[in-house]
Amino acid sequence: MSSTPQPTSSEPNEREPAPSDSAAPEVMASGLELTFDGGHQALADVNFRIDAGEFVSIVGPSGCGKSTLLRLVAGLLTPTAGTLDVATTARDDHRTAFVFQDPRLLPWRSVTANVRLPLELLGRNGPDAAATIASTLDLVGLAGDDAAKSPRMLSGGMRMRVSLARALVTDPTLFLLDEPFGALDDIIRQRLNEDLVTIWQRRRPTTLFVTHNVSEAVFLSQRVLVMTPGPGRIAAEFTVPFDLPRPPELRADARFAQLTGEVSAMLREVSA
Ligand SMILES: Nc1ncnc2c1ncn2[C@@H]1O[C@H](COP(=O)(O)OP(=O)(O)O)[C@@H](O)[C@H]1O
Ligand SMILES: [Mg+2]
Repeated sequence: MSSTPQPTSSEPNEREPAPSDSAAPEVMASGLELTFDGGHQALADVNFRIDAGEFVSIVGPSGCGKSTLLRLVAGLLTPTAGTLDVATTARDDHRTAFVFQDPRLLPWRSVTANVRLPLELLGRNGPDAAATIASTLDLVGLAGDDAAKSPRMLSGGMRMRVSLARALVTDPTLFLLDEPFGALDDIIRQRLNEDLVTIWQRRRPTTLFVTHNVSEAVFLSQRVLVMTPGPGRIAAEFTVPFDLPRPPELRADARFAQLTGEVSAMLREVSA
C-alpha cells in the first residue's frame, strides 16, 4: 500500500533511506563461515553485499547452505568466522521478516488473527491494527471475504498469501524468504512471483529470496547469486536488467531465456 510506514508510538521511524544514502548496505558478508557444532562446515568464505531496497535471489543445489545463510542473516545463527553486518533497523527494531515453504499458520486462528499475531507479539495491537491488517491483506491479494476464514478452508496458494501478509504486517525493512513457493503448482507459483514483484515495488523492503528455481530467481530479482556446495560459497553473480514491473510475458522474452540459460549453465558447472 503506502510506501510510508505506519509510525508507532514506541519506535522512531527510520524506514526510508535518504537518496544520498541509497548505497548503504543493508547486509554485508565478508569471509563469512559457519561450522556446525558437530564439525560440519556449511559455509566458507561467503562474501556479498545487499543494498537497502534491493531484491536479491540465491540459487544453488540442495544442501549447499542456502537456508543456513538465510538463518545467519536473520540472526538465528551466529557466524563461526568472518563478519556479517545487518542494518540496525532490521535487527534492533524487529523489522526482519521470514517466510518459509510451510506457511506455518495457526489452524485455530482466522486469517485475520494469524496476520495479527506479530503485532500482538510486538505490542502493536492498538486501534490502528485493524486498518494495518486490512491493507496488508489487500496488498497480498486476499479479499475481505477471506479475512474471517480458517486456514483450513484455503488452498495452498492462499495460505502462502496469508503467510506473506503475516510477514509484511510489521512493515519489515529486511524480508527473507526460504523457498516459499516450492510446494506450489507452477501456475500458482508464477502468479505469486508476479504479485511478489508488485509487493516489493510498493513497499521496497530489502529482500533476500532463496530458491532452486532459476526462472523464478531471474523473474523476481535485480541480482542473482549462485551458490556452490561443499562448503557453500557464492560462485557467481548475475545482474538482471529487466524493467519493472515484470509482466507475465517477460517469461516468453528471448532475453529472459538467454539469462536463465546462462544462470542454469553456471549452476550445472558449479554443481558438477
Ligand atoms: N543444524 C545442523 N547441524 C549440522 N549440519 C547441518 C545443520 N543444518 C544444516 N546442516 C547441513 O549443512 C548443509 C547446508 O544445509 P542447508 O543450509 O539446509 O542447505 P540448503 O538450504 O541449501 O538445502 C547441509 O549439508 C546440511 O546437512
Ligand atoms: Mg534450504
